Amino acid sequence: MLSYQHGYHAGGFADVHKHAALCLLLAHLGRKPAPFCMIDSHAGRGLYDLTGEQAGRTGEWQAGIARLIESAPTDESLQPYLDVVAGFNKAGGDLVTYPGSPSIAARMMGAADRLLLIEAHPAEHAALRGVFRRDRRVHIHKRDSFEALPGLIPPAERRGLALIDPSYEIKAEYRSVPVMVGSALRRWPTGIFAIWYPLLPDDRHGPLVAGLDALARPVLIAELTGPAGSPAPGPANSPANGPAIRQGLRGTGLAVINPPWRFDESLAAAGAAIARCLFGANGNHTVRVTGDRP
Ligand SMILES: C[S@@+](CC[C@H](N)C(=O)[O-])C[C@H]1O[C@@H](n2cnc3c(N)ncnc32)[C@H](O)[C@@H]1O
Repeated sequence: MLSYQHGYHAGGFADVHKHAALCLLLAHLGRKPAPFCMIDSHAGRGLYDLTGEQAGRTGEWQAGIARLIESAPTDESLQPYLDVVAGFNKAGGDLVTYPGSPSIAARMMGAADRLLLIEAHPAEHAALRGVFRRDRRVHIHKRDSFEALPGLIPPAERRGLALIDPSYEIKAEYRSVPVMVGSALRRWPTGIFAIWYPLLPDDRHGPLVAGLDALARPVLIAELTGPAGSPAPGPANSPANGPAIRQGLRGTGLAVINPPWRFDESLAAAGAAIARCLFGANGNHTVRVTGDRP
């Protein structure tokens, strides 16, 4: 039974980092004329109301996307992300809507590209269906992603990206996600895989990163950290708020397999700008490559 709902965290600093990186990957895929496919294995509801009850209870978006926009960064690497978010809001008006990864992808894709979404939570799935009911490029699966993903890979297009963004409600996912990615990679060796993970004080992401490293190919690891205890705690004891995940979140990580050429440089620039805008002197962003074997 899934209880996590991303509405509490939409637009928070982890989303800012993950979605800025996602925009860079999508911009890369969109540069060539051949169609591509994006698979979002943990899609969420697709679009978030920042004036709604969930966003209001934590206020994470205010310390995330709102602070980034207020800082008005001019870094080129952040512009695709800032442009997409702006496109979901009225020019010159308040920030009221935040696009989740499916909406970001749909906005950056072309007419011939495809978006495959997996979401198991009934309410999140129903909302997601509502967002994309008129978009024929989008295919939505209400299934467990661990079961559904192998059947969707490799996509016919061969070019593309899989975003793996679990809620880690189940601690075993730190071990099962690399296994899932390993089997997906065997079926789709040229696919780009982006895997999100939280940085918690007990470093429980260790087995996840080690498991990805064991896949024996270079894995780009990007991590953003802020002051201890960020973001603002909010009502962390609400079950839907994912207390086991968010309490004491000290940072956010993204592992990318088969990153595009020079993605490391653009993500390093974007991450440094995010760290500066959101956390000032307390922010840090690192990009490294693990598993780089001859
Ligand atoms: C972190 S949220 C996704 C956020 C989204 N990718 C974004 O960036 O906007 C994780 C989502 O995965 C869903 N989920 C968790 N475990 C799942 C599973 N085994 N299969 C399918 N969906 C799952 C949750 O219901 C939740 O909506």
